Amino acid sequence: MANLQTTIGSITLKNPVICGSGEHTMSAEGIRAAIASGAGAVVAKSTNESAAAKSQLDKTDYRLLDENWQAVPWDFNVPRDATVFCRSGLIQQDFEPWMAQLLALDREAAAAGSYVIPSLILSGLDQCVAYAQQIEKMGFRILEVNIGAPHGDEAAKGAIILERDAGRITTIVSRLRAATKLPLWIKLTGQSEDPAALAVAAKDAGADAVVLMGRFMGFMPDLETQAPLLNTSAAIGGGWALPLTARCIALARKRVGRSYPLLATNGARSGLDVARFLLSGAAATEMASLVLMRGYRALTEAIAELDAYLDGCGKSAADITGTAADSLQTYGQQADRPGIWRDFVPPVNV
Ligand SMILES: Cc1cc2nc3c(=O)[nH]c(=O)nc-3n(C[C@H](O)[C@H](O)[C@H](O)COP(=O)(O)O)c2cc1C
Repeated sequence: MANLQTTIGSITLKNPVICGSGEHTMSAEGIRAAIASGAGAVVAKSTNESAAAKSQLDKTDYRLLDENWQAVPWDFNVPRDATVFCRSGLIQQDFEPWMAQLLALDREAAAAGSYVIPSLILSGLDQCVAYAQQIEKMGFRILEVNIGAPHGDEAAKGAIILERDAGRITTIVSRLRAATKLPLWIKLTGQSEDPAALAVAAKDAGADAVVLMGRFMGFMPDLETQAPLLNTSAAIGGGWALPLTARCIALARKRVGRSYPLLATNGARSGLDVARFLLSGAAATEMASLVLMRGYRALTEAIAELDAYLDGCGKSAADITGTAADSLQTYGQQADRPGIWRDFVPPVNV
């Protein structure tokens, strides 16, 4: 058995596989299944005060698409490279009963050496700050705040804030930081010109860790109906996103420093993908689509796969964190290498 422990500020997780927030962490049964899978932590489905964000849950729709963009049956046996295309909403339960339920589940998680992490999605900043204070007072151990959910531009105005501006991120995180001493994880968008700059802003304003990066928005025409699939744009994520997230993490690491905790989300579909994110500089990985596609046991399989990989190279999770990112070169540093472009020019007559 390899040492899978990973440190995120003052928190040590038993392994870097985190069950990310989504519909699969919207019930006590789902969260218990995620804890039982062995995950290092479980992020609960997000909440906020917006009635519009709650009612958006009644308008959700989801498709799994194959490599030809054809919908495939959602039978929990789908290929890991399927793409999730969906319109999601927020939990409809009121804040207090949801948090009371999560606190009891966090006690169960603690007994299993894991964590249940409440998650807020920004709507109004004053209310978000008040919720953060309440969450600390209740006795939670970590708080995640998502200020970059992909649906922000499409949802009803103000229901879900997608923040792309470093200045406003400074304001938001400073207010949250002043309100709570809890380990504060800030989840950021990838839909920005420079997500690493947003990570720097969150770090400088006092976030204990940042999560990079939220999924993208996509548009998918349906060849049969010739109309937009799901009728609207929707959030999209797949295994194809892994290199994009990995680069975002590696570049952010250069800007925030090697000792600052970064968490990866968007694109991991296996334990080897978690290893890829560790190598890119992420102390842990939040996985959601994998669980939605293949069930909670996929987390157990990912932990075992990561363990086998690390065991095989005789290293711990901490040993490999950032290793590849720290030897990342620029194109300019490749000057001495012979170019091999000729091998890639197709014969003219074929
Ligand atoms: C159906 C669905 C619902 C989601 N709901 C939330 C949410 O409520 N809060 C949140 O922070 N992230 C939410 N996410 C984002 C995931 O937690 C995760 O960051 C994202 O899907 C990228 O990781 P993945 O490639 O492992 O899916 C949701 C994702 C999906 C697919």
